[in-house]
Amino acid sequence: MKIAIIGVGYVGLPSGVGFAELGHEVVCVDKIEAKIQALNEGKLTLYENGLEELFQKNIKTGRLLFTTDTKMAVQDADVVLLAVGTPQDPKTNEADLRYIYQAAKELAPFVTKYCVIANKSTVPVGTAEAVESIIKEHNPMADFDVVSLPEFLREGFAISDFFNPDRIVVGTEAPRAREVLEQLYAPFKDKTEMLFVKRRSSEVIKYASNSFLAMKIHYINEMANFCENAGADINEVAKGIGLDSRIGKKFLNAGPGFGGGCFPKDTNAMAKMAEKFGARLSLIETTIAKNYQRKADMAQRVLNALSSPKGKIAILGLAFKGGTDDVRESPSMEILYQLLPVAAEISVYDPKALENAKQELGEKVSYAQDIYEACQDAEVVAILTEWEIFRNIDLERLKSVMKTPNIVDLRNMLNAQAAKAAGFSYSCIGLK
Ligand code: UDX
Repeated sequence: MKIAIIGVGYVGLPSGVGFAELGHEVVCVDKIEAKIQALNEGKLTLYENGLEELFQKNIKTGRLLFTTDTKMAVQDADVVLLAVGTPQDPKTNEADLRYIYQAAKELAPFVTKYCVIANKSTVPVGTAEAVESIIKEHNPMADFDVVSLPEFLREGFAISDFFNPDRIVVGTEAPRAREVLEQLYAPFKDKTEMLFVKRRSSEVIKYASNSFLAMKIHYINEMANFCENAGADINEVAKGIGLDSRIGKKFLNAGPGFGGGCFPKDTNAMAKMAEKFGARLSLIETTIAKNYQRKADMAQRVLNALSSPKGKIAILGLAFKGGTDDVRESPSMEILYQLLPVAAEISVYDPKALENAKQELGEKVSYAQDIYEACQDAEVVAILTEWEIFRNIDLERLKSVMKTPNIVDLRNMLNAQAAKAAGFSYSCIGLK
């Protein structure tokens, strides 16, 4: 099938590569010329585990093209995927839909044969209807259906999630669109459930899923606070509750709060949407407020660990989670911003996110090329992102470079006993 993807970001790019790998002909469109040029030269514009190899393979086959020309991509397409950003509006906290509406308006004139326009961006209830009206308004003769096709890819696991989805949700009641989508996802037929629902239900499923997972993280973080006071160990508690298949063991890792391009924005958008529809969601509202507070609490923990008020702090991890270079709404970055006015010196290290962090932080911190350089002469090191390499820190070497051997492990990456045995003052989450 011929697929056009509008928006070449953390959703559009891995999806484009995935569909090309399945044998479809994919043309990805973005407005940023430099991005398209780099991709056409075979250079990836974001880091995602496992993407490079499939990207290189599929550009060589000619099944994966990149362009700034919407017409070229859309005019022959059987399916147009909208994968543009829906950032949080800073004034209203709602999803900002201007890029979706703009994309709909721009592609409308080029719908010259029947096609399905599928919304992959996370959008509030009723957006599919709005997109449909925009296209009709700008091209009254167009033959098309707009479906909601929520994307559940996780950053860092986008490729494995693409090929092994838990489910494929399609919001449409149009038989023709259903047929096209069944064809698009034919390779998954015997592997995963394809759920056809109303468009509005599909739009809710995405927000309800992300909000539920965010609440689960908030729950385990609060339980971690409780364990600290009650003399229990959150790692053991999480394992014990997670073995109940009704609860499940995923998303029970206590940490510094959730972040990223999705959970913070989607919980806010869900809460606002609920308010609008007159059915407030108190659990989600609490989750948002407490997640915000958690980052302030975590910054205070790092400061409390400093032996002198003007000591050097080393930060390990800037990405919002391991496996990505993305620093959007990263708990690590937010904690860092709270430390900046009070800390004398901050040195940072992240295996993939240094460049993105630099664009935000500029000269405010020093950037190290490895763990030990970051920790040189530091009075405390804070582990803020769950990168696997932090698990294997050489504790003896770390101790030899630090001014005082002091670890605040906000991702529970290290073995508490081993760290203490190596002579560190060690604190983590949910265990005293
Ligand atoms: C999320 C959804 O998981 C995905 O289905 C959707 O398509 C997009 O939003 P993503 O933003 O890539 O994916 O990150 P995710 O792995 O869900 O983690 C979000 C945040 O929660 C991160 O800051 C992460 O560190 C934190 N987290 C996650 C925890 O603190 N504990 C956990 O147990 C899991």
